[in-house]
Amino acid sequence: MNGGILDDFPAFDAASAAAQRIAERTRTLVVGPYISASQRTPTGVAANNRSPQARLTEAVGLADAIDLVIIHAVVAPLKAPRPATYIGTGKVEEFKALIEEDDIGLVLFDCALSPVQQRNLEKALERKVIDRTGLILEIFGRRARTREGAMQVELAHLDYQKSRLVRSWTHLERQRGGFGFLGGPGETQIEADRRLIQERMKRIERDLEGVSRTRGLHRASREKTPFPTVALVGYTNAGKSTLFNQMTKAEVLAKDMLFATLDSTTRVIDLPHGLRAVLSDTVGFISDLPTMLIAAFRATLEDVVEADVILHVRDIAHEDAAEQGEDVKRILTDLGVDASDRSRLIEVWNKADLLPEEERERLLNLAALGEAGQRPVLVSALTGEGVAALLGDIEERMSRGYVGFAVTLAPEDGKGAAWLYENASVVSRETHEDGAMTLRVRVPPQVAGRLTRRFGPAAAED
Ligand code: GTP
Repeated sequence: MNGGILDDFPAFDAASAAAQRIAERTRTLVVGPYISASQRTPTGVAANNRSPQARLTEAVGLADAIDLVIIHAVVAPLKAPRPATYIGTGKVEEFKALIEEDDIGLVLFDCALSPVQQRNLEKALERKVIDRTGLILEIFGRRARTREGAMQVELAHLDYQKSRLVRSWTHLERQRGGFGFLGGPGETQIEADRRLIQERMKRIERDLEGVSRTRGLHRASREKTPFPTVALVGYTNAGKSTLFNQMTKAEVLAKDMLFATLDSTTRVIDLPHGLRAVLSDTVGFISDLPTMLIAAFRATLEDVVEADVILHVRDIAHEDAAEQGEDVKRILTDLGVDASDRSRLIEVWNKADLLPEEERERLLNLAALGEAGQRPVLVSALTGEGVAALLGDIEERMSRGYVGFAVTLAPEDGKGAAWLYENASVVSRETHEDGAMTLRVRVPPQVAGRLTRRFGPAAAED
């Protein structure tokens, strides 16, 4: 079993297998091998419309999220990727010199490398090389907080690794020790490793089915509550957790760190006119999210697909705000959500506090152009500005189709009051001289029938 992927298997018992492969504080070179603008094909993805510098900054931010030490970050403009090493041989030589001079331990390529390119680069540079997918997997691995999240990441990671079995991490260990020779495991070993990975993947898939059944049960029990659901989505670092905290005043991990949020967190919130909603914070979307990760995180994103209202949180002060917004819409569409449905989707233009006055005016005017009830809302999750208006907007959207009732309860009917507080949004409460009580409530249509059956003539439509 020497030199095979088996050596890594104990790591898979931990929540994050990936995290253990790259040591924190590793001196890192970040390379942005971006195809130059003039070479872009009409089918090029939106991510390519970003400025190389902005893309590099994002890559550095991602690397930062797993505590790598960035020694250099360089854009390497390309006309077209080379099949063997992605970048040209001249660049490879240049980076090799840089690596040796500055004692770099890891090279991150901000692109998707084929297994062969990755292996060739490792051979040429004599260092460990990871690509964007590998990096995102590392981050997901470290941030997954629930068992389901960890299993999903592991599954995606195994899938990624399966295609990369031509090389093993172990031979890199050897290489780091000073051996110039990069020998991978033999074919038989690769076959054995592949089978093991396959078996492990099957087992996780089975376990995941069990977990998602449990989730389904949880959701079913939540569906019994009359509260509509509101999901926060957005590009990573857009400010979702901060906004979630503003809206709930609950403590959720919010750091100036990409991917601080991986598993959805939910809370009940009170809206200005008495309606209640279940708010859920979800994973941050990023550009070029590998398809296999989208699939892996589908379960986490189920809250979004089923939400009554979706808040698309955008860092409107970011230079790439437009592209980021498009990326999120594309992922929503992939998930089967109609991203143009303004009665369900509210655009939240966040970080208003960072805008210069004239830009803020311009955006306010732009937002005002939208149809009533469908406008974007300008907020600052940090200062709280605009959050009350946002809550009002959510309530307005949710209450379309709601039915109001005035229910008068006898003084001794504590159970009736409890039922109303549990199943309806109580707008007001009035106690009469004889101790009877009138509650004004609003309920979605599906609860209206239950309410009139439960209270009979005591309930009048309001
Ligand atoms: P992920 O978990 O990576 O998806 O990020 P997120 O969208 O949950 O972002 P988060 O709330 O963690 O905020 C990211 C950073 O932006 C933090 O440093 C926040 O303090 C900051 N931030 C969020 N909202 C605002 C805002 O309205 N104004 C300013 N100036 N900063 C904000």
